[in-house]
Amino acid sequence: MTATAPEVAIAGLALASPVLVAAGCGGTGRELAALDGLTGVGGFVTRTITLDPREGHPGRRVHETDAGFVHATGLANPGLHQFLATELPWLAAADVRTVVSVAASSLGEYADLARRLGDSPGVDGLELDLATPDGPALGLFDTREPFQAARAVAAVRRDLPRGTALLAKVGHDPLRVVETARAVAEAGADAVVLGNALPALLPDGRPGGLSGPAVRPVALRTVAEVHAALPGLPLVGAGGAAGADHVRAFLAAGATAVQIGAALLHDPTCAARAAADLRGET
Ligand SMILES: Cc1cc2nc3c(=O)[nH]c(=O)nc-3n(C[C@H](O)[C@H](O)[C@H](O)COP(=O)(O)O)c2cc1C
Repeated sequence: MTATAPEVAIAGLALASPVLVAAGCGGTGRELAALDGLTGVGGFVTRTITLDPREGHPGRRVHETDAGFVHATGLANPGLHQFLATELPWLAAADVRTVVSVAASSLGEYADLARRLGDSPGVDGLELDLATPDGPALGLFDTREPFQAARAVAAVRRDLPRGTALLAKVGHDPLRVVETARAVAEAGADAVVLGNALPALLPDGRPGGLSGPAVRPVALRTVAEVHAALPGLPLVGAGGAAGADHVRAFLAAGATAVQIGAALLHDPTCAARAAADLRGET
């Protein structure tokens, strides 16, 4: 297999590989590192961090189906203060680019997150989680309309130091994805992540998101459509990638980088192995 040029850059942020660990799928980073799961990846995206701690949903949060995982975590996280005190220092010392995923309940909270994270050593970028399935029901600022997603991006951009990359993660909604990508890019996003889990139902009837292999063809399509409409905009593909061939398919569709998420639940080393494959090391 021919090696693909592994290094990429998003808004001046150089990544050693186009392969990133997707939000919420790599724990705090330590767990993956202990299994060599971070070796050689281009970056690590944290689980979504909110200003205040969130306990998340009670009961079972992840259910495996024959097409991937349906999950409803309720965005469990320790809150910004604890994250800064206990998780970021480890990531800052680790040899990995760190993108902090954030979500907020108001524009003011988005601005606050931008100020406090932008000033923190070890933060290479922020990824705004604008399309968590059922975000408004979780108390998040409602970003389902493209102009509202753009307002969240603008609030963060205003207060984020210039050197910190700003990624906007949107949904795979085929009807509005181009409009949304254009709106968040115009509001100041350096790259658009396409995208979050598809809205789905857990077997017990609770709402959640679907991730994994079933999402891949949908994600490839949204990447291809947005790339065709906005060819200069850096895109990060996310949805069902599990290995180097999938990453290559996303790059061929127009992505600059690719996140691997649900596949890590089966094989915590698959992002590191995909990165090594692309470097031609295997
Ligand atoms: C268990 C689990 C937890 C997730 N948590 C988050 C999260 O905290 N924030 C977020 O933006 N996306 C989260 N996601 C979505 C993934 O980051 C990714 O966008 C989506 O699952 C599609 O990629 P994949 O099929 O490779 O997982 C989560 C996905 C899974 C499976």
